[in-house]
Amino acid sequence: MPMKYEDYERYLSPALAKTTDLVIDHGEGSYLYDVNGERYLDFVQGIAVNALGHCAPAVRQAIKDQVDKLINGSFNMVNFPTTLTLAQRLAEIAPGELGCTFFSNGGAEATDGALKLARAYTGRPCVIAFRGSFHGRTLGATAVTGSAAKYRHSYQPLVPGVYFATYPQKDLCPDGYTPEQRTRFCLDDLQQLFDYIVSPDEVAAIIMEPVQGEGGYFVPPTEFVREVRRMCDEHGILLIFDEIQSGYGRTGKMWAGQNYDVVPDIMTVGKAIAGGMPMSAVISTEKIMAQWHPGMHGGTFGGNPVCAAAALAVLDEFDRQDILANVNEQGDHLASKLEELRAAHPCVSDARGIGLMRAIEFSHTDGTPAPDIWGEVKQRCLENHMITLNCGVHGNGMRFATCLNVTSDVIDEGVDILDRSMGELGY
Ligand SMILES: Cc1ncc(COP(=O)(O)O)c(C=O)c1O
Repeated sequence: MPMKYEDYERYLSPALAKTTDLVIDHGEGSYLYDVNGERYLDFVQGIAVNALGHCAPAVRQAIKDQVDKLINGSFNMVNFPTTLTLAQRLAEIAPGELGCTFFSNGGAEATDGALKLARAYTGRPCVIAFRGSFHGRTLGATAVTGSAAKYRHSYQPLVPGVYFATYPQKDLCPDGYTPEQRTRFCLDDLQQLFDYIVSPDEVAAIIMEPVQGEGGYFVPPTEFVREVRRMCDEHGILLIFDEIQSGYGRTGKMWAGQNYDVVPDIMTVGKAIAGGMPMSAVISTEKIMAQWHPGMHGGTFGGNPVCAAAALAVLDEFDRQDILANVNEQGDHLASKLEELRAAHPCVSDARGIGLMRAIEFSHTDGTPAPDIWGEVKQRCLENHMITLNCGVHGNGMRFATCLNVTSDVIDEGVDILDRSMGELGY
């Protein structure tokens, strides 16, 4: 008898909200196969983690080779060739002067690390984050997360000294604003924070996603991002880019910040870095890192040699398969397919994004957000063997988190399933 999730549910904390009860046996590329042998098209990829798809052969091989030699010895105690080489490779590809890395295991941990580094370097207590943001689930990361009150509920008081400004996306700004109006509105909002709530010389960092992920796959106007950079420079505030979801090629450039030609002072990386293995990193300049003295931060597992081996294989494959070119090409293809979907189904009220970081949004005929319609469509997609992912502060968005070496055939297959699912439901 194949395993059933329901037989094991009682052993698992209900805190982890499960989207499906599928029990997966194996994965390959864009597909997952459950214990009953059913195949599912996976447009989630471990929540934007598997840049090269499930079980990419080069990643698998690199992991196997490293496992045969050493699984761990703690990067606190000794050094590993894979981890040392990865630090060097990251320095080569990171923007500007960023070239000094602290390795950890997951995104939230990297968020906490970046916040600690910013406080340590500046000696200032406060942080500004954005509404609509998601930075993770530790207490520190939750404190700078503003995409849903439910993430913060029951945990107050969170880390003090955090203030929120408005991100220039349509769900958070007045209706009908143009991108220019949103830019002005949000810059004014930030200035008002400085004028009335927190003096800029008490602010260690502004933390922002260069493309908002969980908040709805919103690309902010270039002028906004550049102006935030300028304000940080003016006041000696560090700019932290959370590249955990938007980085590593997803937007068609290696780092999402490169879309605006803006270099942060600190960057967090996670998700795609190690081909599905748990790894994250805080990357900054040598000058800033020099103020993070030995022992001020740490962790048992960070810099694991197996994860680093996988990460090196990912970077090799990025070059070998020219992943960025594929993201740009397939991103354009996906964008045109989503426009077709929007034209065919009135409930699809928006299609947006950049590269392979794209989302559609569902609304009722009166223009109000329709998480209910999206919920039905999502369920029907699952019945039609496709796994999908939510986004947006109103819970009415679907984000496309395909692997970055996805082909147009796979994109078409997914969009066809969506189209069919909406049709079957009468939308
Ligand atoms: C932008 C961003 N930052 C941080 C995180 C937290 O990462 P993790 O779930 O690995 O802790 C996420 C997770 O979705 C994210 O999208």
